[in-house]
Amino acid sequence: MERNRWYKDMVFYQIWPRSFKDGNGDGMGDLWGVLSKLDYIRSLGCDGIWFSPVYPSPGADCGYDIADYTDIAPEFGGMEAFRAVLDGLHNRGMKLIMDLVVNHTSDEHEWFQKSRQRIDPYTDYYIWRPKKPNGKLPNNWQSNFEGSAWQWDEVRGEYYLHLFAVKQPDLNMDNPLVREEVKRILRFWLDMGVDGFREDVITFISKKKGLPDDRLFPIYKGMRHYNHGPHVHEYLTEFKRDVLDHYDCMTLAEAPLVSPKRALEYIDEENGQMDMMIQFQCQTADCLFTDWLPTKFSLRRLKKAFSVWQYGLEGKAWNMLYLENHDHPRIISRYGSEAYRRDSGKALAAAYLFLKGTPFIYQGQEIGMLNWKPAKPELYNDVQTRNHFANSNPKKPLEKRLRELWRSSRDSARTPVQWDDSENAGFTTGTPWLPVNENYKEINAAAEERDPDSLLNFYRKAIALRKALPAVRDGEYREYFRLSSKLYVYSRKTDEQKLLVICSFADTDMKIRVPRGFDLKSGKLILQSHTDISESTLKPYESRVYLWE
Ligand code: NOJ
Repeated sequence: MERNRWYKDMVFYQIWPRSFKDGNGDGMGDLWGVLSKLDYIRSLGCDGIWFSPVYPSPGADCGYDIADYTDIAPEFGGMEAFRAVLDGLHNRGMKLIMDLVVNHTSDEHEWFQKSRQRIDPYTDYYIWRPKKPNGKLPNNWQSNFEGSAWQWDEVRGEYYLHLFAVKQPDLNMDNPLVREEVKRILRFWLDMGVDGFREDVITFISKKKGLPDDRLFPIYKGMRHYNHGPHVHEYLTEFKRDVLDHYDCMTLAEAPLVSPKRALEYIDEENGQMDMMIQFQCQTADCLFTDWLPTKFSLRRLKKAFSVWQYGLEGKAWNMLYLENHDHPRIISRYGSEAYRRDSGKALAAAYLFLKGTPFIYQGQEIGMLNWKPAKPELYNDVQTRNHFANSNPKKPLEKRLRELWRSSRDSARTPVQWDDSENAGFTTGTPWLPVNENYKEINAAAEERDPDSLLNFYRKAIALRKALPAVRDGEYREYFRLSSKLYVYSRKTDEQKLLVICSFADTDMKIRVPRGFDLKSGKLILQSHTDISESTLKPYESRVYLWE
């Protein structure tokens, strides 16, 4: 089937279901809650949804540990609620993509339970290794969440590999039966009418033969032997040829540590195996590789991340654009300014919503939610955060250790969506599974709705412009004043239209800088963060978009 690249015209909204909206008062977000908010999402101008996992799961990694791939967890409302949401979306002309997590399963999945007992055909579904005669672990790889990547299993009398939590054993994708299972899962959801998949750490699915020790890297030990592994393209080609090519669907690859050049091996429109890629470069403007190694925010690094991907994929592949998701703290708290919440939120929105690609908005981003800052470490739920805290230096003052969590934890962006200023921010009538951010009285969707000048309404305007202007979809990208550490200025051009985006990331007034060849007086100001503006000066975090046609 010739690929119909409908996703190029869309804006997606990511739902992290536990914290989106509770429909039945049990304190946990669910699909009934989602159903009640479809019109809200549509009102943003979003026409697609990505659901983080909603399958049955013990919840060791908030659903990224799946115990059954072809069902919906009862706590989320089961299949009945899922079908209602899917119909609700399709009736509104919207699309739905699911999270496909097949690098690993839950250890409570039936396959793992049988594999550990060597019951065929499941015996080789996972990556098992015996004890070495010298008593050492099979290799020195580190899990991304907790210590060694190997866990001893008493039942089988062998170690199994887990690149993430202990309760997330890695599947053995070299086994053709496992690949058949993946295809079965894909078909199951596509036959039900789902429109595509976000594929979790999909670049990790093929491990280097012999699972050699990693003698190079101090962090992410082992990753160079399993990221972009030897058979990854072969397996993805197989999924495409046998399943995806037979449906009108879209796929999005999550890919840590990837360059645009490498990305093209996956998403080149001529011979790639997938459609778009979630890269992490845009998440490292204030850290080294991971949120847990923070540095000062550098606008130049952020601009470079945007530009490298804009230029690198031009004419060959399509960018996925994002600033937030469930794996990183809130973007205003990181790249913007909590003191200038609304305006820095607007600058960040303008900085990415006019780039070439398909934007994704993470729940709460559009209303300017900020990092959660709980008073006690015990309040954290995330497995990665808990392990980080357990391994952090107990001699450091607690306040310092807590600050590290506020700054870097995934839970900073996982608290319930703040709908209004009523109890529990209108998220639930029960007790929320994770506390609501205390700032909900001031920061909530209802307040944003009421204010015509709010961040929410800025998102709406920006998205509407994206949809109306061919230059945003197809125009050529160009960045100006690359060395400026306070201004991000870029243009998008087609033969008929020219667009200039100017964003200040300074918390003081800035002299406006206009690239050669642009005369602001002859342009039409189509989006502005501030109502009263000056010809020569930008206010703190001011952003503007001009159009010539
Ligand atoms: C990436 C997901 O986005 C993250 O939330 C999860 O913990 C890991 N993959 C493991 O599945």
